[in-house]
Amino acid sequence: MKDFIFEKQKFFSSIKRQFSKPWDYTSKRSHYPNSQVTLVLGSQWGDEGKGKLVDQIANEYDIICRFNGGNNAGHSVVTTINGKKIKLGLHLFPCGALHENTVNLLGNGTVIHIPSLFEEVKLIEDIGINALSRLLISSHAQIVPDLFQLIDGLEENEKSLGVAKKIGTTRKGIGVTYAMEKDRIGLRVGDFYGIHNDVIQKMQFEEQLSSLIRICKGRFNYLLDPKFCSKEDRRKWDEYTNIKRAMDRYTKYSKILSNHNTVINTMDYLNDAIKKFGKKILIEGANGVLLDTEYGTYPYVTSSCTLSAGICTGLGIPPRLLKKIDFNVIGVAKAYQTRVGEGPMATELPKEENTEMALKGGEFGVTTGRQRRCGWLDIVALKYSHQLNEFDQLILTKLDILSGYDTVKLGVGYRLKNGQTLHKTIPIDNSNYDDLEVIYETLPGWKEDITGIRSFEDLPINAQNYVRRIEKLTGIFIRWIGVGPDREETIEKLH
Ligand code: GDP
Ligand code: IMO
Ligand code: MG
Repeated sequence: MKDFIFEKQKFFSSIKRQFSKPWDYTSKRSHYPNSQVTLVLGSQWGDEGKGKLVDQIANEYDIICRFNGGNNAGHSVVTTINGKKIKLGLHLFPCGALHENTVNLLGNGTVIHIPSLFEEVKLIEDIGINALSRLLISSHAQIVPDLFQLIDGLEENEKSLGVAKKIGTTRKGIGVTYAMEKDRIGLRVGDFYGIHNDVIQKMQFEEQLSSLIRICKGRFNYLLDPKFCSKEDRRKWDEYTNIKRAMDRYTKYSKILSNHNTVINTMDYLNDAIKKFGKKILIEGANGVLLDTEYGTYPYVTSSCTLSAGICTGLGIPPRLLKKIDFNVIGVAKAYQTRVGEGPMATELPKEENTEMALKGGEFGVTTGRQRRCGWLDIVALKYSHQLNEFDQLILTKLDILSGYDTVKLGVGYRLKNGQTLHKTIPIDNSNYDDLEVIYETLPGWKEDITGIRSFEDLPINAQNYVRRIEKLTGIFIRWIGVGPDREETIEKLH
């Protein structure tokens, strides 16, 4: 462990830029805040464009961290390598991936399917960028075994038969893993890390794994019903419950990760990085605020804390430390609204218009390929999101997709069946959505293609008014506007 800390400190000192460098508003990249800790958070139901922003600003930071979720997330980054444009879909690896001077860290709050992570590492290394040597994983992060992914899928199949509410999960085993963690029978990365050269640890891990498989066989046996478990899934079940297979795999993973000193106490590392070394930390949220287990549209949510509050438990950064340093929260909001999977979405468009918007916006999931449900921007939900996270500013993404509409709409209130109106919070009870009427404000649209525009004043006046109206209604400053997927396709708005 000591060797490893030494190695990583060497890495720290090899990063030339000092965090204390004065902020230069005239330099090329200066339009992003220079806080010591910056958090990028999806303010809606995910897929707001977090990946693009993190990739865009990662160069300003030393350590790029994930604090929640697993490979249910799908974050796209677009870059040009040797004159060729490449779109990379990242799921677990933080979006600092393309910046070789960054350390990328998966915190204790994340859940990790190791084979998927290795696939991503390969994807990055195949384009000639070091990945594994720049990756750190918390020894406390939970492992997502193949078996949990299978269980997640089978549970969804079973629910589809109408026995329970289908969530429309990504089938990546996220909910099963967090449930097992809370039940205190899950496996952590630190449990298998080292087993390739420690016989006692190997025996202990085998015991843990056997016990977990025994419990799963008992609890989830009902999922093997041929009504929703195909022959192929049954074969996978037998494969994934084979202890020898699992042990062989984890022994191999242990060896690979040890070669790079990848698994550490990230809490200790990050606290030192902030307090002792003055390093700059960029935190990448996964999923979206409205998918938070506690505050999202439960039960149609993911199984982790997706809020700014989640960074304290998911990375081990104390709230009071954040108070002492410069900490900045950037909310990412799409100029309209999308959602994947089941659950209420007040401003959802009728089928035809929905598909039209999805096609216009390329709204197909990075993780599952599913068509995202589309609708007009929901100001009520955005205010709710702001209340939960206190965004310092917003980036409004994909404004370019709204070009061409005669009129654009903003959902500014919900009128419930009982006559009550809501303007800044979403209903607690999902049944309220059944008869809910959205109060819309309709604004004139714009026809021009805005992809090439780089200054707010050059946007069509109706597009400017749309942005200003969102600011007025939410009370949040919109600092940047996305007009395309590429790094440069962003407008900075100074006031
Ligand atoms: P994330 O999960 O929040 O990182 O978002 P995704 O990557 O899943 O989905 C956002 C999609 O929109 C990706 O395909 C991005 O390349 C793309 N994108 C991001 N910002 C913009 C923008 O301002 N305009 C357009 N047209 N596309 C964007
Ligand atoms: P990013 O980080 C969009 C949704 C799923 C499903 C629900 C629960 O790319 O924004 P889970 O597999 O987490 O148990 O599924 O949450 N979901 C997302 N939707 N973007 C995401 O991540 C999502 N992560 C989970 O579609 O409705
Ligand atoms: Mg996504």
